[in-house]
Amino acid sequence: MQRTFEASNKLHVGIIMDGNGRWAQQRGLPRVAGHKVGVEAVRRVVEAAPKHDIGTLTLYAFSSDNWKRPAPEVSALFRLLLVYLNRETRRCVENGVRLSAIGRRDRLTPNVRTALERTEAATATGSQLHVRIALDYSGRDAILEAATRLRADESVTRESFAQELGRVMNPNGDAPDVDLVIRSGGEQRLSDFLLWECAYAELHFTRRMWPDFGDADLAEALEFFRGRERRFGAVHAAAGPMPESGESRLVA
Ligand code: FPP
Repeated sequence: MQRTFEASNKLHVGIIMDGNGRWAQQRGLPRVAGHKVGVEAVRRVVEAAPKHDIGTLTLYAFSSDNWKRPAPEVSALFRLLLVYLNRETRRCVENGVRLSAIGRRDRLTPNVRTALERTEAATATGSQLHVRIALDYSGRDAILEAATRLRADESVTRESFAQELGRVMNPNGDAPDVDLVIRSGGEQRLSDFLLWECAYAELHFTRRMWPDFGDADLAEALEFFRGRERRFGAVHAAAGPMPESGESRLVA
């Protein structure tokens, strides 16, 4: 699944949408107000993604650890998701956007599951952009589950493992490795997001709070990405032969 930017100009970008709560608190508003305005940022980013050559966009909306939040905040998040799915499905169909979810479904309420299935079915043929919403998602749990399923298979390879991992959290299939992770809100960590798939992702952290995130921030992240030299553990082609004695050119 690993491939270089040169081989395909459609990128997989993952976004850790952080900072909703602080954005609200800075304005004397309840945290949920930040999530509500955060949905507008989701709309802006989905609309802008295709023009930045993004083919897959994975949005971290609810981690498996987010169940630890107060119940009213959790309920509000899922209500916002339902409103988003109800409002955006038709626009996704019109714009060739495929919308699907990754993550556990067994702990979601039946109405959330049904809404997801309906949106996934309605947008299944979208080919301009694949938006994946990570819900009740844990990268560690996904790896553990794939390993459990494949434990008796001695012929397992990186590729077959990655395919199984894709199926674990979404029976509709896998996605390419992540090229770029963007995290808003000023923190610099992955928080259990797509751990396997991010093995060679470039990481871009911005202090912008998610509700304020927009096209200019996405453009800035892509500019950062395009300035990176991606070597996937090899040396740059122009580096010439390895010096005899050293490994000084071996970089990740
Ligand atoms: C992190 O901010 C954000 C979340 C846990 C939820 C993200 C959800 C949305 C943007 C809305 C629903 C999503 C979709 C796809 C419709 P935080 O609350 O941890 O912020 P903080 O770090 O400032 O407290």
